Amino acid sequence: MRNVTLIDLFTHPITQKYLKRSGMSHAISVANYAYSLALKSGVNPDLAAKAGLLHDIGHYEWYKNGEWDYEQYRENDIHAIKGAERAHKLLIRLGEDPRDAKKIALAILLHTDSYLPEATIKQNPLQRVVKQADELDEEPGGRHHYRKINKELAFQKICILDKKIEDDLLDFKKTV
Ligand SMILES: [Fe+2]
Repeated sequence: MRNVTLIDLFTHPITQKYLKRSGMSHAISVANYAYSLALKSGVNPDLAAKAGLLHDIGHYEWYKNGEWDYEQYRENDIHAIKGAERAHKLLIRLGEDPRDAKKIALAILLHTDSYLPEATIKQNPLQRVVKQADELDEEPGGRHHYRKINKELAFQKICILDKKIEDDLLDFKKTV
């Protein structure tokens, strides 16, 4: 029913490469939170879960002498821009509907405002859901990026979420 599943995205080498960098466990938690929040807010759970899973794939490694350099990161980070672009390219390549690919990319672009000049941005419900989901999983000192999860469990969690979305989408299409 969907052109692209979470498993298609999750198992793709591009996603694997960048999720290893920014935290596999964090990405899966945020996908789950985004899914639940989406259901509560009348947002498409498929788009929310995909944006949640991919929201941090734009991270660069700001290491200096083997340690994470927060100052460099704060000054130079544009991970939301890079992530939106990477996710969009990947989604289109895998056959996602271009309108949905754009919605997911925009939710990733606006999941944080740490890189933006001071401005008030009016987020739509999907964008709000992904931002809140990310905040729900945040740990002090950026520890959420380093939390470990084993491969099989990660795969299983994504499969379960895919299955839930397939079921929910049937209801969602009826109501929207
Ligand atoms: Fe995040």
